[in-house]
Amino acid sequence: MTKKKPTVLVTRKLPPAVEARLARDYDARLNPDDRLYDADAVIELATGADAILPCHTERFPAEVIARLPESVRVIANFSVGVDHVDLAAAKARGLIVTNTPDVLSDATAEIAILLMLGAARRAGEGERLVRGAEWRDWSPTFMLGTQVTGKRFGIVGMGRVGQVAARRARGFDMTVHYHNRHRLAPEAERGAIFHASVEDLLPHCDVLSLHCPATSESIGLLNRARIALLPDGAIVVNTARGAVVDDAALIAALRSGKLAAAGLDVFNHEPAIDPAYRELANTFLLPHIGSATRETRDAMGFRALDNLDAVFAGREPGDRVA
Ligand code: DGY
Repeated sequence: MTKKKPTVLVTRKLPPAVEARLARDYDARLNPDDRLYDADAVIELATGADAILPCHTERFPAEVIARLPESVRVIANFSVGVDHVDLAAAKARGLIVTNTPDVLSDATAEIAILLMLGAARRAGEGERLVRGAEWRDWSPTFMLGTQVTGKRFGIVGMGRVGQVAARRARGFDMTVHYHNRHRLAPEAERGAIFHASVEDLLPHCDVLSLHCPATSESIGLLNRARIALLPDGAIVVNTARGAVVDDAALIAALRSGKLAAAGLDVFNHEPAIDPAYRELANTFLLPHIGSATRETRDAMGFRALDNLDAVFAGREPGDRVA
């Protein structure tokens, strides 16, 4: 008799190669129409399932975890960020939770560099002018931006993505400064200058790039007081999570000219972002596409499946976070 395949609720439409592997190895409950499920729908659709493979678009606070069907043993996230899951509640219930680190570092660092350049060189404004047939003239003082070559690139959160972003920034001859909970070993630092606190780091950032996870310590990290410590005319880049930024403080600093520009891929309350970001000319905005390459999304799916395979083979999954 063939062994029954574990049942997996897959909350979003995934790349074809990932869904093919899911269909081969699991009794997969797919979402071909890519409907956005609310918590009640997730709970209902997970009835009898052994696992859930969600994205950051589904939230698992303690009250949702408490209502999940007893059959669910594992939440194998299709994301590196796990701020959408209450890890303590999951652990208390004995749920295994995994994520997908490493495989999206290159793609996300690419977007950080794109945001830096787009914000510094006013790419959004320029593109709107050309696209809107409003480009009238060329002049020596037309659309002047900030050159980043040779400037200082500051990183909060020197994990996997932060370290790749640092390497890319060095391609622009930028000096890398960083703050991390723990100082990196010299071979990982590669000459980057460590600052023991965010406050120490900020005065050294012509560009500040946020790469820390959203945790209870980092929520609202970039607030009014900290923005005041940045050099006048600095540029802020965020590919981490919107929650690490205090929107009112960032918007005020962009309005006043304290900051030259911001390049943002992530926001509080996505996709219902603070409308002021749209109204400001000095913002360069993307819709949370840090990991959105074909290569990376396949790799994220395979990594989530590697974690599921391990659990159902009785092994410890490689990327267990709870
Ligand atoms: C991640 O993996 O955390 C990305 O932000 C997509 O969810």
